[in-house]
Amino acid sequence: MRTLDDLGDLGGKRVFVRVDFNVPLKDGVIADDARIRAALPTLEELRRRGARLLLAAHLGRPKGRDPELSLAPVAARLGELLDAEVALAADLDSVPDGDVVMLENVRFEAGETKDDAELAKTYASLADAYVNDAFGAAHRAHASTHAIAKLLPSAAGLLLQREVETLQGILANPARPLVAIVGGAKVTDKIGVLEAFLDQADTILIGGAMQFPFFKAQGHQVGSSLCEEAGIEPARRVLAEAREGQVRLPVDVVCGEAFDASTPVTHVDGVDVPDGLMGLDVGPKTAAAYAEVVKSAGTVFWNGPMGAFELAPFEAGTRAVAEAVAETSGTTVVGGGDSAAALAQFGLEDGVTHLSTGGGASLELIEGKTLPGVEVLQA
Ligand code: 3PG
Repeated sequence: MRTLDDLGDLGGKRVFVRVDFNVPLKDGVIADDARIRAALPTLEELRRRGARLLLAAHLGRPKGRDPELSLAPVAARLGELLDAEVALAADLDSVPDGDVVMLENVRFEAGETKDDAELAKTYASLADAYVNDAFGAAHRAHASTHAIAKLLPSAAGLLLQREVETLQGILANPARPLVAIVGGAKVTDKIGVLEAFLDQADTILIGGAMQFPFFKAQGHQVGSSLCEEAGIEPARRVLAEAREGQVRLPVDVVCGEAFDASTPVTHVDGVDVPDGLMGLDVGPKTAAAYAEVVKSAGTVFWNGPMGAFELAPFEAGTRAVAEAVAETSGTTVVGGGDSAAALAQFGLEDGVTHLSTGGGASLELIEGKTLPGVEVLQA
């Protein structure tokens, strides 16, 4: 992959930098600016080299020019973090001059998500070089992540480079044992990752609502737990393909009557969830056993919470896993917005080796897929 050093002298040049500033907004206020901060090393390095920045990013999935998805709050926050004036260009015909300029939400342009060549030409006409630092959007073949890279001298930014090297390193050459913790709601979202880890991981720990299709595949009762029917067959396949002891499932479950912090809490010592109850967290025996496995790992990859950690009575399983991940001396890599939010909730963000800024992109990379935004930067 071409890197910043391949771009040569950037003094006075305008560099089109694609970043992933797809941040959560609450009432127009940025709820978490981690993705903006993650791009700062690249932006600062380019400025150190004398480049003038033209930043491009998407926000949400707008249908047309939705003012609620304007990048104005993001430009303001970036200005504070960079301690620089960040001018926001209302449209592509009126891009102001300035050291740091940000285009409006690229998804306001009809051709952006179609990887449109004409739109890419317009983008390219505004700059002398192209840098992609938007790891979280690198699995999208869009005009600002893909088509433009063919039209200008182009390279990966520091964040994109680190994300790709770290995530590919997990499967290529991990310190062992390699432990994958896979949670979240749906088996079908994670099946590619589970298959990749069946080939490579020493242990796969399953948690979250995706445990229930596994239990159903084994003939257990799941009560009123969230249980993805389409996940039952894939779960059965994973169990059939796994080596003895490679895939571990919970041995106890914390249940409630409803997805609600005030529901009465029942500990089920086993995995048959009675009618009228729903599993909302892994139980304490499971949490302790999983933590032991994680603490003795050489490499850990974690994607997806163990339960409904956003509800206080059901956070313990996810907390135990997060604490074990933070405690282990092995390499720890965390991907996906929910696991990152859990680490933040428990104040453990600094306890991991690498906190990926990508959700879908990190999963696709682990699955062994080629990311269009990465492939186009390969020499
Ligand atoms: C993300 O939030 O995962 C990335 O910014 C990609 O967004 P998208 O799924 O809307 O393409």
